Amino acid sequence: MELQARRDRLLEIESEVLSPYGTPVYVFFEEDIRENYRTLRTALDEQYPDSVIHFAVKANYNPGILSVLRDEGCHAEAYATGELSAALEAGYSPQELLLTGMNRRLSDVEQALETGVEHFLVDNATELERLIVAADETEAQPKVLIRGNPSMEVPTHPEVATATRESKFGLDIESGRAMAVAERTASASAVELAGVQLHIGSQINGVEPYGTAARELLGFAADIRDELGIEIDILDLGGGFPVPYDGPVPDTEAIVTEISRTVRETANTLDLPLPTLFLEPGRRLVGNAGTLVTTVGVIKQTPHTSFAVLDAGTNAVSSYWPYPMFALTDGKATEHYDVAGPLCYTGDVLAADVELPPLEAGALLAIDRIGAYSLGSASHTNAQPKPPVLLCRSDGDVTVIRRPETPTDVFANAEVPDDLR
Ligand SMILES: Cc1ncc(COP(=O)(O)O)c(C=O)c1O
Repeated sequence: MELQARRDRLLEIESEVLSPYGTPVYVFFEEDIRENYRTLRTALDEQYPDSVIHFAVKANYNPGILSVLRDEGCHAEAYATGELSAALEAGYSPQELLLTGMNRRLSDVEQALETGVEHFLVDNATELERLIVAADETEAQPKVLIRGNPSMEVPTHPEVATATRESKFGLDIESGRAMAVAERTASASAVELAGVQLHIGSQINGVEPYGTAARELLGFAADIRDELGIEIDILDLGGGFPVPYDGPVPDTEAIVTEISRTVRETANTLDLPLPTLFLEPGRRLVGNAGTLVTTVGVIKQTPHTSFAVLDAGTNAVSSYWPYPMFALTDGKATEHYDVAGPLCYTGDVLAADVELPPLEAGALLAIDRIGAYSLGSASHTNAQPKPPVLLCRSDGDVTVIRRPETPTDVFANAEVPDDLR
């Protein structure tokens, strides 16, 4: 949804829906999630039909949001046990899940196998051994995807680049570490070597990195064929599709075209059969579907700037990204504000020098496109309750998908020693 349409919709629901909950409140739009999924599914159906979309649950593990994607036919990539539980709660069948991680406990792997999960990503040799032990015990024969690391620099924030030489993720392809784990997988009868995977990072602003990644990973698949005599079935290129925060990003069709073309050409050159393509997008499917509605509580002039101080801070949104903001009041954007949260640290500034209409205490301000990673990274800094989450349904209804927290919820699991009571 474009910003103007988003603003109009928020104004429509302001009196009956937003007022009862107060602010801050997250508002998600079901139709945007469905549209994001359908755009990707349609592009794949046209260009590479033998493909499965696994929503990266880490981007938003609210079961209400996950259910919308499940209803569309999306599968899910669940990172370790917590996300696996959220996906099961949202009604995904274990066969629709790909379990990833980098330090899953043996008991967690056993439990996942008993539940019926079939696809497991393997990030390191130790985890592979745990999976082999668990598979032996449970007599399941899980399909293994080896996570490769091709040492790639990508155009994004350094903290979300995940296939660089310095990264903790994946098995280095060049040095042979990835091949050693592939060999061990192939030699263990309890598991099946089914695929290769990589995830180059998040918010990748360009299509070329996907072509490079596909070539690297298919090169690894060809090495597996040459050295181990195994043709892998699954090529998983991870996620990373970007969201337009403050500028244009490649559209879904352009990314799918680059992937599809490169996979077909490279497989042909390397004489490999066309693999089933797995993708693991997170941000792109939910990022533009959520807004955080806040109230300006204080306008404060300093010698340096005008601060608009909100009732939600940097603890309510995933960091790094320049989220678009707009006021739900009338007036032309003639003023400049530094938009700050109420938290007790200097860095609690959401954006500097934002052009907005003149604001007074009580004005509503929306921070848009916060739908990915914000719910998961939200914290209780300064013992602030986390905001509730509303879902604007496709039929116009609005429903609560995360209840408001009370101040005591923040320390509900804490214990005071008896003698100090
Ligand atoms: C293995 C893996 N797959 C998929 C994703 C989703 O990335 P994005 O939300 O950028 O699509 C991530 C994000 O960190 C990841 O680590």
